[in-house]
Order: sequence, then structure tokens, then C-alpha cells
Amino acid sequence: ARDDAEGSGNRQSVSVILLAGGKGTRMGANMPKQYLPLLGRPIALHSFQTFAHMMEVLEIVVVCDPSYRDVFEEAAKDVAVPVKFAMPGKERQDSVRSGLNEISNSAKLVCVHDSARPLVLVKDIRKVLNDAAVHGAAVLGVPVKATIKEAASDGFVTKTLDRKYLWEMQTPQVIEPELLRRGFELVEREHLEVTDDVSIVEHLKHMVFITEGSYTNLKVTTPDDLLVAERILHQGTPAG
Ligand code: CTP
Ligand code: MG
Repeated sequence: ARDDAEGSGNRQSVSVILLAGGKGTRMGANMPKQYLPLLGRPIALHSFQTFAHMMEVLEIVVVCDPSYRDVFEEAAKDVAVPVKFAMPGKERQDSVRSGLNEISNSAKLVCVHDSARPLVLVKDIRKVLNDAAVHGAAVLGVPVKATIKEAASDGFVTKTLDRKYLWEMQTPQVIEPELLRRGFELVEREHLEVTDDVSIVEHLKHMVFITEGSYTNLKVTTPDDLLVAERILHQGTPAG
């Protein structure tokens, strides 16, 4: 059974682009990090299954190397949502673009998620989807806890940034498909720099809303992140 949204007018309106096309260089494992096991399941299947059970989700476009498609095809047998595949690109953005080419015309929102974030919560996904439906673009983020300083290449501090204005970006990043398409056109035409999905929309001068998420929605990047993720799943709280 699919998990229904409360009073939702959003049934099957969201195309999820699940990014699983990276190599996981910083993890240094013998396979891309998104396929390493986390409590007995590949990391990428955690968020795949979370999205697959949400009523808002129209389809999941998995961007992955063809040799890993069977991981998702196997999991797709147990869920009702249609699953499509797209080829990864060189950079993360190229993979997003590739996924965008595969989404259905009836999608009202595209929800880009890093498969390296296995712990994303349904309640936070719903919040960012609702905010994107209102504002056209929304991204999950959390307030920065650390003090962040800027330094010059000689190593000396040049600036202490004011923490109250700083947010760490997570995924999902949720955008209207037309807005994302127009953003990609502009970025390509003018060779603009892109660091994440919503920065594409920022180039269009469109406002992007930050939806406050959870610190537990970590991105598995290095081996220690895997230990923390396991602990969060086991205990419901982060280590330490
Ligand atoms: N990703 C992708 N295509 C790329 C690069 C990244 O689909 N060309 C995906 C990754 O699989 C990951 C997410 O984007 O789920 C975030 O990227 P990151 O955490 O940097 O993963 P990797 O690029 O795989 O890791 P690393 O940078 O350590 O090599
Ligand atoms: Mg990377």
C-alpha cells in the first residue's frame, strides 16, 4: 500500500530523479558508495523505497550505470510506482540533466535526490514538496552549527561569516520542470557555474525557498559517515 499524504492534492504529481551515477571517490570502497550495504540493504535502496511508498510520487527516474540497474529493478518488483532509468553524466549536473530528459510530461514538480542520503524522512520530503508547490523551487537545508570563516590562500582569516544567515544544503531539491529546463538552457548558453540544482534557478533570478529539514539527513561521503548512518538507523539518534 502506498502511504497517502494528508488532504493531498498532490497525488502522483512528482517525478523523482534519484542520482546514483557517482563513483564515490572519497569513500574509497571497491564499488560506488551508494551500493554499499547499510543495515543489509544497498544505501541507494533506502531512499528509493522511501519515495516509492509516497502517494505524491508519479515515477522514479534512477540515474545509474547500466550495470547497477538490476539493483533497482529487483526492488521495483515490490512497489507500484513506475521506475525508469537514465545514463549518468560526467558531473552531478550532467546526471540531473540526463534524468530530466526522461520525466513524464504530467510531472508538476521534479524532486532531485542524492542516493547518498539514505536517511531522508517522509515528513521532510512532504515539507519541501509543499514549499516547492507554493514557491516554484525549494530545497531542504539545516542551519549551520559551526562557525565558518573565510581565509585567503596564505592561510590567514579574512572574514567570519554570520552564522544566522548560513544554511547547509541537503536534498531533495524540488523545482518545477519548466523552471529547471529554462535554468539549464541559461546555464549552458552563458557557461555559468552551478554548484547545486537550485543554483540553476537562482541564475534565472527566481526565488528559492529553504525548507528546514533534519540534521540526520546526512550524505554518506567518507567511511565514518556510514557508521553514523548505521547508528542513526539503529537508535534513532546520532552517535555521540
Ligand atoms: N552523482 C551522480 N552523477 C555524477 C556525480 C554524482 O549521479 N556524475 C550522484 C552521486 O551518486 C551521489 C550524489 O550525486 O548520490 C552526490 O554526489 P557525491 O556525494 O559527490 O558522490 P560521488 O561523486 O559519487 O562521490 P565523490 O565526490 O567522493 O567521488
Ligand atoms: Mg562528487
